Amino acid sequence: RPLVVDSVAALRAQIRDWRRDGLSLAMVPTMGALHDGHISLIRIALEKADRCIVSIFVNPTQFAPSEDLDKYPRQLGRDLDRLAVAGAQLAFTPGVAQMYPAGFATRISVGGPAAGLESDFRPTFFDGVATVVAKLFLQASPDCAVFGEKDYQQLCVVRQLCSDLDLPVDIIGAPTIRDAHGLAMSSRNAYLGDAELAVARQLNAILRRAAAALAAGADEGSATAEASRALVEAGFDKVDYVAARESLTLTPWRPDRDGRLLAAAWLGKTRLIDNLEVPSA
Ligand code: PAJ
Repeated sequence: RPLVVDSVAALRAQIRDWRRDGLSLAMVPTMGALHDGHISLIRIALEKADRCIVSIFVNPTQFAPSEDLDKYPRQLGRDLDRLAVAGAQLAFTPGVAQMYPAGFATRISVGGPAAGLESDFRPTFFDGVATVVAKLFLQASPDCAVFGEKDYQQLCVVRQLCSDLDLPVDIIGAPTIRDAHGLAMSSRNAYLGDAELAVARQLNAILRRAAAALAAGADEGSATAEASRALVEAGFDKVDYVAARESLTLTPWRPDRDGRLLAAAWLGKTRLIDNLEVPSA
């Protein structure tokens, strides 16, 4: 099993030892309930650095009061077993009081790629993510950190955060890991019943069709509207958005630039997101 620390002091003591030995460090921030998507990030981290620190912290500041903070899956013992198999050397498992002691009063608010898409439906989400990621980077001072393209807008926001605040952490984007039916792995997939799972598995195929249409010259409005219609027909209860964007900045899509098609949709009480690339014409 990895070394497990739950205080910033213990984290820094271990890191000081590794730095004294000249070792490089990679970080993989997570909220636990680890699945093969998370494990793939650890594998990449260990290719890039000598030691991999995985943080496991269900960050309350990125959940709105109406969201699933209380029922978000927590399974630390199983997570540590998975980390042992993956070869991560250190698990940082702070409690809420360690990360947000009484009197905590700072919030980091990123603009640029944080605007729109997720923020239209979860207006405080990226403030919570940016604040906790900045804290984790300052606590652990890793050389690099690996984030999944599964949460594509989050990856763009973290890059913007590091660039704007001169955080010396190299951000590495990692491909989305999917099940055999194309469904992106997610801790929230555990909420899905069998019938919902069958619907969820159509999300990626529908987006793939829309991305192919865009790449073949379809107009953005009609391709995304058609995908939304297909999602509802497949059994999704509500579509928050299907949108094409320029892939680096998330500014409006242009056929002559590499693009990204992003979507969020609800199945009952479960919200799923996915995205994929739209090659430039
Ligand atoms: P969490 O949802 O646990 O995801 C942790 C990391 O795993 C993120 O970088 C996410 O993009 C990546 N990930 C999740 N599913 C993936 C998949 N199927 N394939 C590849 N990577 C995948 O994202 C968060 O936690 C939090 O917002 C966090 C960044 C930890 C801040 O609290």
